Amino acid sequence: MASENENKMEKIVSLCKRRGFVFQGSEIYGGLRGTWDYGPLGVALNNNIKREWWKMFVDGREDMYGLDAAIIMNAKVWEASGHTGAGFCDPLVEDVETGERFRADHLLKDNGIDAEGMTIQEIDTVIEEKGILSPKGNKLSKAREFNMMFESRVGATAGDEGKVYLRPETAQGIFVNFKNVLDSMSPKMPFGIAQIGKAFRNEIAPREFLFRVREFEQMEIEYFVKEEDWEVEFEKLRKDIVQWHTHLGLSNENIREYEVPENDLAHYSKRTIDFEYNYPGKGFDELAGFAYRTDHDLKNHEEASGVKMRYTPQEGEPFIPHVLEPSFGIGRALTAVLCEAYTEDTIGDSQRVYLKLPKHLAPYRVAVSPLLKNKPQLVEKAREVFTTLRAEFGNVAWDDNGNVGKRYRRQDEIGTPYCVVIDFDTLGEEAPENTDTVTVRNRDTGEQERVAISKLTEYLK
Ligand code: GAP
Repeated sequence: MASENENKMEKIVSLCKRRGFVFQGSEIYGGLRGTWDYGPLGVALNNNIKREWWKMFVDGREDMYGLDAAIIMNAKVWEASGHTGAGFCDPLVEDVETGERFRADHLLKDNGIDAEGMTIQEIDTVIEEKGILSPKGNKLSKAREFNMMFESRVGATAGDEGKVYLRPETAQGIFVNFKNVLDSMSPKMPFGIAQIGKAFRNEIAPREFLFRVREFEQMEIEYFVKEEDWEVEFEKLRKDIVQWHTHLGLSNENIREYEVPENDLAHYSKRTIDFEYNYPGKGFDELAGFAYRTDHDLKNHEEASGVKMRYTPQEGEPFIPHVLEPSFGIGRALTAVLCEAYTEDTIGDSQRVYLKLPKHLAPYRVAVSPLLKNKPQLVEKAREVFTTLRAEFGNVAWDDNGNVGKRYRRQDEIGTPYCVVIDFDTLGEEAPENTDTVTVRNRDTGEQERVAISKLTEYLK
């Protein structure tokens, strides 16, 4: 079963490349580890995921406010948040012969040892006692903390003066704007601020396709509550997260919740649940995180900046709210959506691969084609239908390559829910009762129906 699943993941990665979903970053120069580029269909799927998320968590709620903060932020933000310290480090070991670097906890895991919560000294002891070597069979260096933030410089300054970091989470952009949103929008408690954007982590060992990369996108919410309400609000948001995963089409049996043990919590968290997905060939691993961040961030920013990060209730004293944080990585969501959708079956006597994507996520809602591309009347009518549908849905494909059977297979493989074909019946040249009707072919069943052009938009909705 494991090898079948590994095989499935390989097939998905290959489909992603072949059909324009995901390409290796900087590929023509041999690539750059931990970076991936989204092709035409990948960016469409990505945008659909982001749009649906925004619709559900921001536009669909009265207690949520959107934000888009700068990626480059003042370095003091990361000092105050604790990211420059040991809390945002991974344990690093080197192969003493080759200089190759590895995440010590991953090496231990490969040797059947769970390093969760271990200190650097404990890791060294285990490596020593068990005689753990690098994958090349060489001795390993002592472990050390490796900070995952990418550094850069702003302006023409030298030394540490202009030092900045690329943000490793979008969350801090929200915290530093907490007061701005309070002052400009006068929200009522509890309320949240949501943001979608890029985040960067200098992962020691980027791996497993989009799972662990150095540049990725997050969709995050910081939800501000009174301290005494955090547990009640936690439960409400937890249900919303479950609903979001259902909306992505992920089945219940492939999702599970993992209560992160105390000794493995992030430096800011008092309670975290990881929502895990059952990735083929890998098993359950993190898809999204949901943390109770207490008042850690606002309190630290208030202390460091001297600006009051307080909410003033109608009655009573101003106070620093506590924070609940649902945090979603888009690359992992996209991978899970593709894994869930990837299906192989047989239609008639031919085998096919298709992506059973939910309609609201599919890169194309529908593909339109003339039965034959060398018959001007068919092409003209098909272009008319195409233009009407594109005005309605936006993401409509024009496909006139090869024969109709091949077009169906191609569209199946990228998850297009419907194919519309304009044929001689449409022109009234065969059965008159079929004039101005088209063939609509359903991706999942392979079944075809005749639908009047005048009813097509409604049908496809
Ligand atoms: N603001 C909280 C935060 O960033 P996190 O658990 O470190 O928490 C949240 O990250 C989500 O971001 C993860 O659940 C995952 O989906 C995604 N993510 C984190 N690091 C990633 C990486 N290196 N590559 C891809 N996705 C990543």
